[in-house]
Amino acid sequence: MVPPRSMFAPASHALAEDSPGAPAQASQELQAGLLAPSPHIDPKYLYDRLGSSLFTAITLLPEYYPTRCEAEILQEHAADIAAHAGKVEALIDVGAGDCVKAERLFASLQPRRYVPIDISAGYLQTAVQRLQHAHPDIEIMAVCQDVHDTLDLPHAIPERNRLFFYPGSSIGNLDPGRAARMLARIRAACPGGGLLVGVDRVKPRSILEPAYDDALRLTAAFNLNLLRHVNQLLGSDFQVDDWSHVAHYDEANSRIQMFLQAQRDVLVRWPAGQRRFAAGQRIHTENSYKYTPEKFRDLLAQAGFRDIQHWSDERGWFSVFSARA
Ligand code: TRP
Repeated sequence: MVPPRSMFAPASHALAEDSPGAPAQASQELQAGLLAPSPHIDPKYLYDRLGSSLFTAITLLPEYYPTRCEAEILQEHAADIAAHAGKVEALIDVGAGDCVKAERLFASLQPRRYVPIDISAGYLQTAVQRLQHAHPDIEIMAVCQDVHDTLDLPHAIPERNRLFFYPGSSIGNLDPGRAARMLARIRAACPGGGLLVGVDRVKPRSILEPAYDDALRLTAAFNLNLLRHVNQLLGSDFQVDDWSHVAHYDEANSRIQMFLQAQRDVLVRWPAGQRRFAAGQRIHTENSYKYTPEKFRDLLAQAGFRDIQHWSDERGWFSVFSARA
């Protein structure tokens, strides 16, 4: 087994498996969210080892169309995408997960280096070990980081010909203002390079809601697993079966909203505090914004990208954009 060349983690991010951020910082952030007037938990805590595995299972569900649509577009238009991307010194994968999506691009993009970034260190390490073995000629440098906070890349990656890969409509998990700032940060990090980004599109509620509330209840398990992870990090005593998963399409803001809803009155305690939740009260866990191609093109242009190309699947459910920095 060839080990990954490096597991780069900036000082501000702990390497501890399954826990993004220093433990004290995580506790503080979690406590502040739980005590807020509208309680919330940061979605980055969805992705511990079990959460990442559950998300991979979600991508195989018939209801969860984004992964398949995106794969279809990337495969169908591989040659055009590679032509638009040009020479790729480093393929920088923002939120790499199991690295499978990027791996499918290796043949057409021929990157010299591959830089997977993910919040889940343990999951990433396993993925990278397999990948380095399968692609000994590509230099792989794994980075454990929450890309929504910072973009802190190892200096060993040359600045020329970087291609950022931001798949899975993860950009939709940021509100449009934060998404614009994130895109501007990416643009600043790849002068003369580019970005390949997947975006889920506005569509009827009857298609959107089942994608986030499936018949097998895998998405419910994924969302509820957050409470187990929070118990580990904060030392809280959430009883998972006191809570249920809620996914709702907020049409006015073109976003799916995910919540955990108390099924009965509960008291949740942790070492430094506690909170009562009344039956029916919700903790917000994630937004997933949906875009029209025109709106997302505007967002890219606002962030300073130019030469923006766009491909879609047959049904027009998902879009892949390639843009030059
Ligand atoms: N980036 C994924 C999306 O918005 C994340 C996701 C899918 C998700 N299903 C979820 C997040 C359920 C929280 C709960 O499509």
